[in-house]
Amino acid sequence: MAIDYSQKIPNNVNLADDRTLQRALEQWQPNFIHWWDDVGPENSTNNEVYLRTATSVDPQGWAHFDYVKMRDYRWGIFLNPADPERKVDFGDHKGEKAWQDVPGEHRANLRRIIVTQGDTEPASVEQQRHLGLTAPSLYDLRNLFQVNVEEGRHLWAMVYLLQKYFGRDGREEAAALLERTSGDANNPRILGAFNEKTPDWLAFFMFTYFTDRDGKFQLAALAESAFDPLARTTKFMLTEEAHHMFVGESGVSRVLQRTAQVMNELKTDDPALVRAAGAIDLGTIQRYLNFHYSVTIDLFGADQSSNAATFYSSGLKGRYEEGKRADDHVLKGQTYKVLEVQNGQLVEKEVPMLNALNEVLRDDFIKDSVAGVGRWNKVLEKAGIATRLTVPHKAFNRKIGALAGIKLSPDGRVVSEEEWKLKEKEWLPSPDDFAFVASLMRPVLEPGKYAAWIAPPAMGINKNPVDFEYVRFG
Ligand SMILES: [Fe+2]
Ligand SMILES: [Fe+2]
Repeated sequence: MAIDYSQKIPNNVNLADDRTLQRALEQWQPNFIHWWDDVGPENSTNNEVYLRTATSVDPQGWAHFDYVKMRDYRWGIFLNPADPERKVDFGDHKGEKAWQDVPGEHRANLRRIIVTQGDTEPASVEQQRHLGLTAPSLYDLRNLFQVNVEEGRHLWAMVYLLQKYFGRDGREEAAALLERTSGDANNPRILGAFNEKTPDWLAFFMFTYFTDRDGKFQLAALAESAFDPLARTTKFMLTEEAHHMFVGESGVSRVLQRTAQVMNELKTDDPALVRAAGAIDLGTIQRYLNFHYSVTIDLFGADQSSNAATFYSSGLKGRYEEGKRADDHVLKGQTYKVLEVQNGQLVEKEVPMLNALNEVLRDDFIKDSVAGVGRWNKVLEKAGIATRLTVPHKAFNRKIGALAGIKLSPDGRVVSEEEWKLKEKEWLPSPDDFAFVASLMRPVLEPGKYAAWIAPPAMGINKNPVDFEYVRFG
């Protein structure tokens, strides 16, 4: 499964044998570069960035590191190897052979799933485009750019599926993926969280921790798909996603490490003093966490959804780690608990599990997220700081599903409109928090130097030292 880099579009799918597809992709390629130039990383054209590029999709040694100008990055089409014997693991087609083509009756739904996933990839690049101007170090700048080029490649992955399997509709959808823009009033990205701003590096680390993890769970569910090309392409995307979440988890850890150090030096937990010393107070970090967590769990969709049931039963989208579950993988007649508000109280109610599969995936995501927050708390514990970060209640600040619009405190109490108004700035980042964090955002671009609000990493990239020249400016 080596990748052929001698082609205009690097690939491991024998693109040269499919002239129609090759032409369609070669026509799309310059539009992608225009998009990258217009709304990709600002002021980055001449930078030489120490990036990893896939050389094969094998688990061993698929990465090659070198200095690359980002617009020359070899974006291409990489799929995990096919298993000709692969069977569908779940739903009404369980036990049948996986599909190598799109069945007519599932065409519209599959296209919608692929377009929705594809739309998030360029959206995050757009959301992050200005962050390169204020990177806290060359190491962080390089990590941002690595995430950006890989999200670009994820877009390529979805465009490949659209153009190969969906004919003219697919080509139109591929074009539209470069036309919508994050936050645009007239032509926004499809999903809410991908139209939010990523105003600063703390937001970026929270985004890559929480929102890229949404990506992990969505991709893992699609990696189960009966539509084998979708399963194979998302499996390879998952290997790239792991680095994005690492950037988020280690980024927040380093912010906490620095904050704890300042708190210990000053022997204080007064946020004003911590801020005056140039570190980010724990309250602000908690409020950023509350915001990114709640916006991200909305991405899983309505808690009850007939679409979710259809996607599962028809084999389009499985559950996270379908193969590790001990049930019948058909789920008819089974139930699951979702939340709703009755008489001003949150109550659980049992609903058919097939309709609750968005909630099942959301709950899997929550478990995974909480584990990392525990690791952040270890940083505080080790530094002798008593405060702990927590994830808010899953009904907090929701905009989608039965819980949308309900006013709830982060610890899960239904509150009045008045209390919400009074406490909102303790629970979610306020204009003052954003202004303070923005005031810290100054580029630090000397090798080995790190901004005062974040600790250096423990290790560099690809066994290089932390003072390595990860980005060279042209
Ligand atoms: Fe992605
Ligand atoms: Fe990602």
